Amino acid sequence: MKTRETWGTRAGFILAAAGSAIGLGNIWRFPGEAYEFGGGAFLLPYLFAILTAGIPLLLLEYTIGRKYRLGPPSAFRSIYRPAEGIGWWQNAIAFFLATFYAVIIAWALSYVFFSPSLAWGDDAGAFFGVEYLRAGEPLDFFEYRPAMLGALAAVWAVVLLIMAGGVRKGLELANRICIPLLLVLFGVVVVRALTLEGAAEGLNAFFTPQWDKIGDYEIWLAAYAQVFFSLSIGMGTMIAYSSYLKKHSELSTTAVTVGFANSSFELLAGIGVFSVLGFMSGEADVPIDQLVGTGGGVAFVTFPTILSQMPGGAFIGVLFFATLVVAGITSLISMVIVPFSSFEDRFGWSRKKSVLVLGLPMAAFSLLIYPTANGSSMVDAVDFAVSGYGLVLGGLATIVLAFATGKIKALAAEANRTSMLKLGNVWYTCLALTAVVLVYTLYKSIQGQIADLSDPDVPNELIYINWGVGGAMILFGVVMTAVLYRRPIPERVEEAAAAAA
Ligand code: PFF
Repeated sequence: MKTRETWGTRAGFILAAAGSAIGLGNIWRFPGEAYEFGGGAFLLPYLFAILTAGIPLLLLEYTIGRKYRLGPPSAFRSIYRPAEGIGWWQNAIAFFLATFYAVIIAWALSYVFFSPSLAWGDDAGAFFGVEYLRAGEPLDFFEYRPAMLGALAAVWAVVLLIMAGGVRKGLELANRICIPLLLVLFGVVVVRALTLEGAAEGLNAFFTPQWDKIGDYEIWLAAYAQVFFSLSIGMGTMIAYSSYLKKHSELSTTAVTVGFANSSFELLAGIGVFSVLGFMSGEADVPIDQLVGTGGGVAFVTFPTILSQMPGGAFIGVLFFATLVVAGITSLISMVIVPFSSFEDRFGWSRKKSVLVLGLPMAAFSLLIYPTANGSSMVDAVDFAVSGYGLVLGGLATIVLAFATGKIKALAAEANRTSMLKLGNVWYTCLALTAVVLVYTLYKSIQGQIADLSDPDVPNELIYINWGVGGAMILFGVVMTAVLYRRPIPERVEEAAAAAA
């Protein structure tokens, strides 16, 4: 029996898990979400969700991964045979997420090269939309933008090279190099941001709670979605990563360390971005809330505008966009590992085969759909389905399965075998509470979308694409379960699973 590869060291796993968590979600997504959903009022549900949902779910995924030592579909099948589909559904989520996430990394890579000459000139908005994206209508498929295409091809080449290296020489090595680099790059950017005039104004906007928003279910769903996205949970990523752990690895302090590192980075990113916005608001004499777009707007329009105005902007620009690239790559590889580990364990594939049969088609799909006139509309539409709903539903399914099959106690015992913090009633309560909050917020949110359908001001396309992508992902899980139901997991892996059980 071929033995399964493992992480070389405990630090190697922690770095990789932190590398997965710290990504575009921290720098590109979090500040915009925080701002849109009420500044300081967003931070409370966010912190609540980290502690009661994020860390407990991280532990659940680590435990499932380490216990069964199989990629998500086979791990779920080992818990309960029909549940294999949850793992395949998560494969579909990983596919869609990875293929558009790479695109944003590609934008950032282009901007590393635009920064030295501040190529966007006086109008960063026009440069991004008209010159770089050359954005057309939402249905303008296959009209390619060569600059974006080149950058995206480079991103996929690096990712597939890392994947080909396997666990130790690929994933672990990449994170060992990238995480220290990330800290240095981003450290310089944040210090520079904080020393700008007007930084305090920005921080006020970031931290001042708009209390009237706190009762709104949308804030709560957004906070949970941000936590799931940011900690990389709900998609089987952490099951896949921890399936390469040694059987006696410690789990609980690892989860707390990763959670803490991720949130620290996230808050730091919020502080950095809002300091810069404070500076800009002073310079342009425009209130902060009129400067901010969410997501892409902040990173690729507002930020470049400010770089042009601040001393040393070209240099800081290179560092900032390089930070995005490095943080993004370490997250992207953790998405791609979901299908890789799933197919390798379920069908006995070699890593080489995964690179050729899964990796290349993923890259091809990404290159086919996104570096085009409608690429940024497609990114928005798919992001909505994947980040807003997919991960949260995936996490919910994992919790429901653990409880409904009565395996939750066995999982706690498995974690407690090596964990310093013992899992017990507090853990069960947090997971159950998370399930209740998610069911409620999802229900309200779907009700809201149905109401939006009859609202002439809301474009229906986005809702249809959201439901279409969401439905297609679930359908994939169902079909794979039906097809594979009678087919056992190959012996090689089944033995690994039996040895772990
Ligand atoms: N955590 C990553 C980020 O914050 O950018 C994104 C991510 C990675 C989400 C892996 C989900 C995942 F499974």
